[in-house]
Amino acid sequence: MYHIISIHDFEKSDLDHLLDRAKEFDTGNYRSRVLDGKLAALLFFEPSTRTRMSFATAMVRLGGNSISVDSVEASSIAKGETLADTIRVVSGYADAIVLRHPKEGAARLASEFATVPVINAGDGAGQHPSQTLLDLYTIRQSMPIEGLDVGLLGDLRYGRTAHSLALALSLYGVTLHTTAPGGLEMPANIALELRERGVEVVEHADVEEVIRELDVLYVTRIQRERFPDSASYYNVASSYRITPEQLSGVREHLMILHPLPRAGEIDPAVDRTPYARYFEQARNGVPVRMALLHEVMQ
Ligand code: NCD
Repeated sequence: MYHIISIHDFEKSDLDHLLDRAKEFDTGNYRSRVLDGKLAALLFFEPSTRTRMSFATAMVRLGGNSISVDSVEASSIAKGETLADTIRVVSGYADAIVLRHPKEGAARLASEFATVPVINAGDGAGQHPSQTLLDLYTIRQSMPIEGLDVGLLGDLRYGRTAHSLALALSLYGVTLHTTAPGGLEMPANIALELRERGVEVVEHADVEEVIRELDVLYVTRIQRERFPDSASYYNVASSYRITPEQLSGVREHLMILHPLPRAGEIDPAVDRTPYARYFEQARNGVPVRMALLHEVMQ
C-alpha cells in the first residue's frame, strides 16, 4: 500500500515522477473519470482552506468523490475516541484517507492502523508533503530546480511546509539561505540532516543580505497556534515583511512563494510585482493532488 507521509520516504525519482504526472493532469492529458466510484475521506482536525478544498476539487475532477470531517468538535474525537479507532472505522468507508492533525507523527500512526492509503495533509510541526510537491511543481513550471539559490524566510521551527520543502530541495543540489526570527530557526535535527545530504545551508540575520542572489524566496507565516503562550508569539510577531521596496535589484526571474495563508509577511503591494507567484502556487494544488490521489488509489 502506498502512503504519503513524509518527504523522508521519497527519492528524487519518486518526486520527479509525481511532478510529471501532475503536469499531465494539469494539461488535461488523462482518462476522464479515472477515479470513478472512488471515495476519499478528508479528516481535517486543524483549520484548512486550500489543502482541504484542493483535495476535494481533485477528487471531483477525477470523477470520484469525498467525505469529510472538518473539526475535532464535530467528530467522535470529542467523545474521547482514539485516532487509531477513527482511522480503522474510516478505512471501512473510503478508498483513501487524507489526514490533517495537530500532532506530529499522527499521519504515520494513522498509516499503521489504516487498511487504505493515508496521505499526510500536515501533522503538527512535522511535515506537509503534498504542499511540497506543489511548491516544487510551481518552481519547475518556470525553471529547473537543480542548483537554485532558495531563500527560506519565517518560522522555520514550527513551519511544516519549510521542513518538507527543505528536505525535498536537498535532492536537487540547491543552496538554502535561511532567515528566521530568534528562536524560530530550523530544528537542529533537520539542519543536520540537510548538511549530511550535502546541502549548503547559509543562515542570514536579515533577508536583505541575500535577496538579490535568490532564484526563489519562500516566505512562511509565524505558526502562532504552535506557540506555548501568547507572550512568546508577540515577541516575534511582525518581525519581517516583504515590501516592493525590498525587491529593487533582485534577479529578474525571482519567484516569491508562500504556502498561504499570509498574516502580514508579504505586503499586498507585492502582489502586483512580477515576482509574486503565490496565487499561482495555490492553484497548482489541484493538479498535484490529482496526481497524488490517482497514484495511491489507481
Ligand atoms: C500551511 C500549513 O497548513 O502548514 N498551509 C497550507 O497548507 N497551505 C501553512 C500555514 O498554515 O502557515
